[in-house]
Amino acid sequence: MAFRVLGVGSSLRDSASSTTALSITLDFAKKYGAEVRLLDLRQTKLPLYDPVENKTTPDMQKAQDDVLWADALILSTPDYHGSMSGAMKNFLDYFWAEFAGKTFGYLCASHEKGLTAMDQMRTAIRQCYGWSMPYGVSVNDKDDFTDGKMNPKLESRLDMLARDLVVYGNVLRQQFVKDLDDSSNTFASRYRK
Ligand SMILES: Cc1cc2nc3c(=O)[nH]c(=O)nc-3n(C[C@H](O)[C@H](O)[C@H](O)COP(=O)(O)O)c2cc1C
Repeated sequence: MAFRVLGVGSSLRDSASSTTALSITLDFAKKYGAEVRLLDLRQTKLPLYDPVENKTTPDMQKAQDDVLWADALILSTPDYHGSMSGAMKNFLDYFWAEFAGKTFGYLCASHEKGLTAMDQMRTAIRQCYGWSMPYGVSVNDKDDFTDGKMNPKLESRLDMLARDLVVYGNVLRQQFVKDLDDSSNTFASRYRK
């Protein structure tokens, strides 16, 4: 079965640079044999997470189906005040155990390097027992696009991220799924059904 990569875009801007970079990265992941889906939070509108409310909207159901489907995720955010967008944090709040044992890649559209925003996404994922790629990629909407064409250096970084996520993510995922199915003493044991 093909390795399944879900990209989560969290800018609510039309033609957002973070979502453009995400789509290109997903195309590269396809080149490396992955099946891909894009969950664009501009289109899939999640209500503000409410731990008490138990009504599920069609958009909430779609997000849940996509997250359960995925073996690995790429989280893409604009840099807002050195942090992730509210839409991204709200998306993350909906899930917990669903992230465990999956590998996450990070993209950030920033006028700086987006490091603090990506670090905060990493912290949330670590809290949910997900793996994180050891690097992220930042995109600068002013410097990285000329006449709608992406800077080739950035394109090459996105290609590398896609390749590494598919290859390393697959190794980690296969081991996690194997550990779910046997009785070994690993962190996966708490996710056995
Ligand atoms: C509310 C808000 C806060 C922002 N804060 C920062 C910031 O702290 N650092 C930064 O480099 N850019 C900041 N920006 C600029 C955006 O990160 C930048 O325009 C980015 O390219 C937007 O991404 P998008 O094209 O994916 O929407 C901010 C923009 C907004 C609207």
